[in-house]
Amino acid sequence: MLSLLITIPTYNEAENIESLLKALFDVVPLETEILVVDDNSPDGTTKIAEGLIPSYPGRLHILNRPKKQGLAAAYLAAFEWGLSRPYDAFLEMDADFSHNPKYIPKMLFELSSHDVVVGSRNIKGGGVEGWSMLRNIVSKGGSFYSHLVLGCPIKDLTGGFNMWKKTSLEKIGLRNIISKGYSFQIEMKYRAWNAGCSIKEIPIIFADREKGTSKMSKSIFLEALINVWRIRNCVASDSGIDQFIKFAITGGLGTITNLTIFFLCADIGGLPEIQISVVCFLVAVTQNYIINHKWSFKSNVGEKTLSIRKWFEFIAISLLGLGVNIFVMKTLLLYFSLPYKVIAQAVGIAAGMIVNFIMAKLFVFRRKI
Ligand code: GDD
Ligand code: MN
Repeated sequence: MLSLLITIPTYNEAENIESLLKALFDVVPLETEILVVDDNSPDGTTKIAEGLIPSYPGRLHILNRPKKQGLAAAYLAAFEWGLSRPYDAFLEMDADFSHNPKYIPKMLFELSSHDVVVGSRNIKGGGVEGWSMLRNIVSKGGSFYSHLVLGCPIKDLTGGFNMWKKTSLEKIGLRNIISKGYSFQIEMKYRAWNAGCSIKEIPIIFADREKGTSKMSKSIFLEALINVWRIRNCVASDSGIDQFIKFAITGGLGTITNLTIFFLCADIGGLPEIQISVVCFLVAVTQNYIINHKWSFKSNVGEKTLSIRKWFEFIAISLLGLGVNIFVMKTLLLYFSLPYKVIAQAVGIAAGMIVNFIMAKLFVFRRKI
């Protein structure tokens, strides 16, 4: 059994902390310990937690910090404290019962075969109880937005009920974290995904707090929106833009190959153009498939090998790209009077390439978690 440290950041959770700690110690295995990280809450949260230490000898720890420094700082301090001690696993959770302790045994079980376990509201069986429509929209919108910006397949990027193997925290490199507030959760998961950790989402029902107040504010939310971009820039070794440039270069090389073979066979060899053109297409597409696999989308496919199936898929999306190219070119010629037809063809090629790139990224070279 993994030895687990549950880390709970608290700020003014006097009404929740005692019952939460009791509920936790009731469900977790004996070797599990808890660390409360309190930012000197004016309501005396620390005092209440301290009062419980004698009831759970050696299993309850408290880290009191002089002033409110935000969620990220609290978790980073907790991890730093725990990483220098012999725990194998860490759990993040809120103090307000939004994260039900009953899910912990299942999370622990899943952690034996994964690096990270995410308590997820956004998969089948998961959800939220008691939130206003507005808060729901804000949360779903935030998740969707981060998902789009980061291109990361985790369904609940913003959630704060996550379990980490010690090794995955070490892989992330906690010193690199740039978030101060709620984008911390997004950044942690995104970094883990980028570092190649295996991530398992299990469904949880998130219940709104009954006691005390949320520390979420408009400014915390706005900070998170902007931070997603900072996170992307600082983490992604291969962002979508890099991949697109490599994809375009690969396409250029494919065109050179195509024209070279065409010149050799049709001009010099005198072979029939249509048949040669088909051969040129197949050779160029195959070359593109290999280079895209080995280079443009290397960060997506990792150690995976080339496959006949993916090769077929790549041919299919290339044909689709060609279709888009011809369609756009013809449509432009039909509806606009252009000085040169080649302008329409150039726009067509660009459109075809964009469609091709998206299909390649999402299907052929899709990245799995
Ligand atoms: N030590 C410390 N310092 N604790 C803090 C601070 C701080 O500055 N700010 C908040 N906390 C503690 C709270 O006391 C609570 O235990 C936990 O962090 C979460 O704070 P809430 O105020 O209850 O957050 P929430 O319910 O709005 O947000 C939850 O859902 C979000 C996603 O929808 C959290 O789980 C977030 O992490 C999550 O992103
Ligand atoms: Mn809460």
